[in-house]
Amino acid sequence: MINKESVDKLGYIDEPIDSDINLVSEINRLKVEKNAVILAHYYQNPEIQDIANFVGDSLALAVKAITLKSKLIVFAGVKFMAETIKILLPDAKIVLPDMNAGCSLADSCNYHDFKEFKNNHPDNLVVTYVNTNADIKTLSDICCTSSNAEKVIKSIPEEKTIIFAPDKNLGNYLKNKLKRDNMVVWDGFCHVHQRFSSKRLIEQKKQNPKAKIIAHPECQKSILIMADFIGSTSQLIDFTRNDSSTSYLVATEYGVIHQMKKYSPSKEFIPVPPDDSTCACNVCSYMKMVSLKKLYLSLKYEYPVVELNQDIIAKAKLPIERMIAIK
Ligand code: 13P
Ligand code: SF4
Repeated sequence: MINKESVDKLGYIDEPIDSDINLVSEINRLKVEKNAVILAHYYQNPEIQDIANFVGDSLALAVKAITLKSKLIVFAGVKFMAETIKILLPDAKIVLPDMNAGCSLADSCNYHDFKEFKNNHPDNLVVTYVNTNADIKTLSDICCTSSNAEKVIKSIPEEKTIIFAPDKNLGNYLKNKLKRDNMVVWDGFCHVHQRFSSKRLIEQKKQNPKAKIIAHPECQKSILIMADFIGSTSQLIDFTRNDSSTSYLVATEYGVIHQMKKYSPSKEFIPVPPDDSTCACNVCSYMKMVSLKKLYLSLKYEYPVVELNQDIIAKAKLPIERMIAIK
């Protein structure tokens, strides 16, 4: 038995585990016994990706969840992604191993400020990146992920004015690429992607002249203009699988390299480092909150679970379903 009140306070289950327990085999056993599905994002630690039933980007994981229709999903990723699945499958139990796994980008857009912003642009269609808290989705006409953001914007008539939130880097990238001058962009960013330094990338490119630069669109313009390819996590992985080069400078969260190496073991993947430290790679601390121990305990006790109020679910469902329809 666990004390739910103390778990709620801490955000995860903290219980000692016998040293002779093999976490990998226990998780695999529980998965089958409970008919549970583990979904993991590409930014998770390698051992979490390897134990998941499915690994994917934020859009693919949401699509996977609705096709599987599992009653018990353990989501190895961050809270807004787990909430998106809860909105799509309100009757399913969505377990998040650590409720503290937030997102700086989602937190850069709060409900009251965004409502005011929306009121100041009353005729604009509201497109929100899926990296938002659930209440922001209730103010949206359509959501998107970095996988389908271009398609979503292209689906909107050119004369229509648009609000894009919360990522200013992705928003301005789309605005320039698709020549949508009538798009106003919220001033938010992800602390991980904002941190990449063009100075260090230039140095890396000098040392590795043959390496192609690949970047996630959440990076700043100074990084994106140097990139040979820009795309979501899954698009970056696919690019490295199909491209003829043998070396890449990877400007997104480090975890994505695990799948790149699996698909292309003979290629070289060099993480682009952040500017403010001596670290060799750029890490999302929220994504890394999921450990094998937390995954095991959350599966064992089917807790902590994502709960959302019915009103939020009802209002947020339509923009998310519209997003899923534009794959
Ligand atoms: P993807 O949609 O590409 O998986 O990205 C999610 C994310 O959080 C990027 O920082
Ligand atoms: Fe959020 Fe950035 Fe982490 Fe993605 S990498 S989950 S946008 S904080």
